[in-house]
Amino acid sequence: MTDSRPLPPWRFCVAPMLDWTDRHCRFFLRQISRRALLYTEMVTTGALLHGDRARHLDFDPTERPLALQLGGAEPRDLAACARMAEDWGYDEVNLNVGCPSDRVQNGAFGACLMATPERVAECVAAMRAATRLPVTVKHRIGIDEQDSEADLERFVTTVAAAGCTRFIVHARKAWLQGLSPRENRDVPPLDYGRVHRLKAAHPELDIVINGGLTDLDAAAAQLAHVDGVMLGRAVYHDPYLLAEVDRRFFADAHPVPDRHAVVLAMRPYIERQLARGVPLTAITRHMLGLFRGQPGARHWRRVLTEMARRPGADWSVVAAALPPRPAEPEVPEAAHG
Ligand SMILES: Cc1cc2nc3c(=O)[nH]c(=O)nc-3n(C[C@H](O)[C@H](O)[C@H](O)COP(=O)(O)O)c2cc1C
Repeated sequence: MTDSRPLPPWRFCVAPMLDWTDRHCRFFLRQISRRALLYTEMVTTGALLHGDRARHLDFDPTERPLALQLGGAEPRDLAACARMAEDWGYDEVNLNVGCPSDRVQNGAFGACLMATPERVAECVAAMRAATRLPVTVKHRIGIDEQDSEADLERFVTTVAAAGCTRFIVHARKAWLQGLSPRENRDVPPLDYGRVHRLKAAHPELDIVINGGLTDLDAAAAQLAHVDGVMLGRAVYHDPYLLAEVDRRFFADAHPVPDRHAVVLAMRPYIERQLARGVPLTAITRHMLGLFRGQPGARHWRRVLTEMARRPGADWSVVAAALPPRPAEPEVPEAAHG
């Protein structure tokens, strides 16, 4: 019997990445995949409760499906922010339990929350009581010495008991002392098997695997074991990788624009943002990898890097950076009939 439920957007997710997956980046990625679930950068509850809320929360409706990732550890604050996520039109609210930076540890949230699953459960319960949106958790397989399979199991069952049904698991532990956030994304070894066993033990939960997936074949192979995949750096550095995602992960065969068409589709957006005073580079910095591996890639990167940050830089910079369209393959004489 075939399963006729629609394929959920979390089958393929683009990871939350601070300073990278801002609204301009997401709008750009959305030109390439209509279906992938996108995440915001982590936004702290403090920034939303006391800062410029609209600056952190505004997005273009075409960015959906879109999840807001929150950083925080106070149930009441997280509940208030979860409600904001719903009011603003997000599709999901996600709690960051994976970030190991000092700044985040000082605020006692992020990965260090893995040490206190009961606290995470309280946060999830408060968020769920405040919104109808799905509340999900992104975490590691362990932290410091607390990294056994039993520790992970205790974390997930405790948080699931509070009603979280989807977990995004970065398949490596974090060392909270001694490694920088960047090292913590590369140094602790990946253990996909641990995440697969978590899913096998909890068929009732949706488990999304993250970490070190560099191409769509590797990502698709994971779906034999888990419900979804999340890719971060690979998508950011090679965004056109998303071009095959809708067909391969969502059985959606709509035509995907080629790289040149993606750039041209960005023009009205770029011009709108420039008119609002957004500098060109704030948008084009996310587009540098678009022609990766293609003729003209270096020219594209170089022109955008050097010229987009100049005062007054406008669309003409993008036009100048655009590599010539590859010539159409020549049709042999005979083929003309
Ligand atoms: C520049 C950068 C910023 C990141 N910021 C966040 C963040 O705000 N929240 C979060 O949960 N993870 C963050 N991460 C971690 C990613 O979401 C992801 O878990 C990690 O990069 C591993 O996935 P990958 O190997 O596919 O990149 C960040 C990663 C990078 C490279």
